[in-house]
Amino acid sequence: MTSPHARGKLITLEGAEGVGKTTNREFIRHCIEQSGHLVVTTREPGGTPLGEQIRGLLLEQRDEGSMASDTELLLMFAARAEHLARVIRPALESGQWVLCDRFTDATYAYQGGGRGVPRSRIAVLEEWVQADLRPDLTFLLDLPVNEGLQRAGKRSAPDRFESEHAAFFERVRQAYLALAQQYPARYRVIDAAQPLEAVQQRIHDVLAEFFVRSS
Ligand code: TMP
Repeated sequence: MTSPHARGKLITLEGAEGVGKTTNREFIRHCIEQSGHLVVTTREPGGTPLGEQIRGLLLEQRDEGSMASDTELLLMFAARAEHLARVIRPALESGQWVLCDRFTDATYAYQGGGRGVPRSRIAVLEEWVQADLRPDLTFLLDLPVNEGLQRAGKRSAPDRFESEHAAFFERVRQAYLALAQQYPARYRVIDAAQPLEAVQQRIHDVLAEFFVRSS
């Protein structure tokens, strides 16, 4: 039986530390609602009770040393499997839109670029956990690493990722920019060094075009 609803759209928001994801996520949510769509705003790792527990394991600083990179990768996808099963797929199938603060591109950027996990290993998990589900639109908020770290440093005590050095975040940034080049149809790179009004004007314009394309 076919669903009476058109499938909703999955919009993801990506970027390294301190690029302004939280402020702009609220702006994107507002724009989607204004266009008349119901939207679920969520985040990764997390978005479900179990996923938030896994997030706690991933982000907490640990005295016994670092987490093995495969453990980190598998925990990211464990949280994602739960998130897809309980939140993302049901919402999309009921016609709601989903705005997700980070998704699998963060795994390619952080575990792939940052930690050096082979891309092919991430791709296997992506196929397994997501099958053919991919974002319809991805915003990449891009900022030079030092500027992002300065902005992020003004916030609370750093978590396990935020404690990484600048070279790690440079690899993350380059991995994101490479993804944007690889998937130009779904990626929109936003220069997050601009004043907030200019950033949001650009986001607004991208969404206006996307709404027309998806109506
Ligand atoms: P947040 O600070 O945007 O909430 O994300 C938490 C951290 O998790 C952030 O430093 C990036 C990291 N992360 C990964 O390393 N891989 C992933 O797949 C995701 C979703 C996040």
